[in-house]
Amino acid sequence: MSCLRHRCHPSGSAISWLGRRVVPSVKGFAMRVVVTGGAGFLGSHLCEKLLERGDQVVCVDNLSTGQWENVDRLRGYQGFGFVEADVTTDFPVFGPVDAVAHLASPASPPDYHRLPLETLAAGSRGTENALELARRNGSRFVLASTSEIYGDPLVHPQTEEYWGNVNSIGRRSVYDESKRYAEAVSMAYRRTLGVDVGVIRIFNTYGPRMRPQDGRVVTSFITQALTGTPLTIYGAGDQTRSFCYVDDLVRGIVAMIDSDAGGPVNLGNPIERTMLELAELVLRLTGSKSSLEFHPLPQDDPTRRQPDISLAGDLLGWEPRVTAEEGLARTVAWFASRPAELIAAADSVAGAQFEGHDLAAASSGMLRSA
Ligand SMILES: NC(=O)c1ccc[n+]([C@@H]2O[C@H](COP(=O)([O-])OP(=O)(O)OC[C@H]3O[C@@H](n4cnc5c(N)ncnc54)[C@H](O)[C@@H]3O)[C@@H](O)[C@H]2O)c1
Repeated sequence: MSCLRHRCHPSGSAISWLGRRVVPSVKGFAMRVVVTGGAGFLGSHLCEKLLERGDQVVCVDNLSTGQWENVDRLRGYQGFGFVEADVTTDFPVFGPVDAVAHLASPASPPDYHRLPLETLAAGSRGTENALELARRNGSRFVLASTSEIYGDPLVHPQTEEYWGNVNSIGRRSVYDESKRYAEAVSMAYRRTLGVDVGVIRIFNTYGPRMRPQDGRVVTSFITQALTGTPLTIYGAGDQTRSFCYVDDLVRGIVAMIDSDAGGPVNLGNPIERTMLELAELVLRLTGSKSSLEFHPLPQDDPTRRQPDISLAGDLLGWEPRVTAEEGLARTVAWFASRPAELIAAADSVAGAQFEGHDLAAASSGMLRSA
């Protein structure tokens, strides 16, 4: 373990050897953390983890892709505050801030296709505003970046040194490029203004609180399996992904908040699975008799994604612990407890589950001329 925080806050309060504040900026709490995007899937788990360990949390979210249900659950914790605001505007957070975790951004393919300009704004203006909040308060700043930085990678597994193979003008570029800019401006704030910035590159993560029709393969397979509809496989299903369970990922984000590592640092589970293997595992865990339905492979769909997480091990002492069987079983249980949502989503899932591409546009050649 290295890079735990041993710094003095501008307010003069000391940081303990464990990286936690000795003299809290807010009485009764360890740290005061602003989580942008805290009403979303990852953000709500992160807020919960911070609250459980005794931090005060201010969640800033415009609920564009997040859910009230997540905010309501968090309201049960002492120390939780919610600010409904858009991070691309001058959002109101007053009082001392020890850390800012910037997660606010549409993140799933159907969301960033529906909100292309908003996605670019969240990564650019939103990141600048969140950085300014950290700069004004002398706080730690952690950017939730993404493995999409690597695009369709030509190097396996992906280390942080790899610069990526990204299409800067395709439909998914609104997400990829917004995150590339977010990384660039965060690192410039670190170098030029001395803000204590850390960048994490998150690889595919799954778990309870995902939305059934969010277009991600895990949720699509589980929804299809539980509703007895065919599981949609693109191509021959031999493309691989690696999936990290949300509890593991959140442990990594918290470790990054508590460190002074700059990164970028990959966070993800390096165990690769083909889509066919994943489909079979989901069918086994759900006991479903759903068939597999094969569709043409979308354009630009990465054939492999696998993080090299040695740096996270060295800097944060972090590695994933939850097996795919365990994590998927917990996720299946969450979805199975919400039958009405599943039934409502079942029809739209096959259309939503693509990794960021418009199949009709791809087959008509529109993307090639984009
Ligand atoms: N889930 C993953 O596998 C994954 C992988 C890589 C990176 N990430 C990153 O992690 C972050 C969270 O992803 P998620 O999966 O929880 O997505 P999500 O859509 O569930 O959460 C994003 C949250 O940000 C909020 N938001 C979006 N734009 C906003 C704005 N302008 N102002 C305020 N709030 C705004 C949404 O309402 C939502 O609550 C994103 O930055 C995403 O890029 C996630």
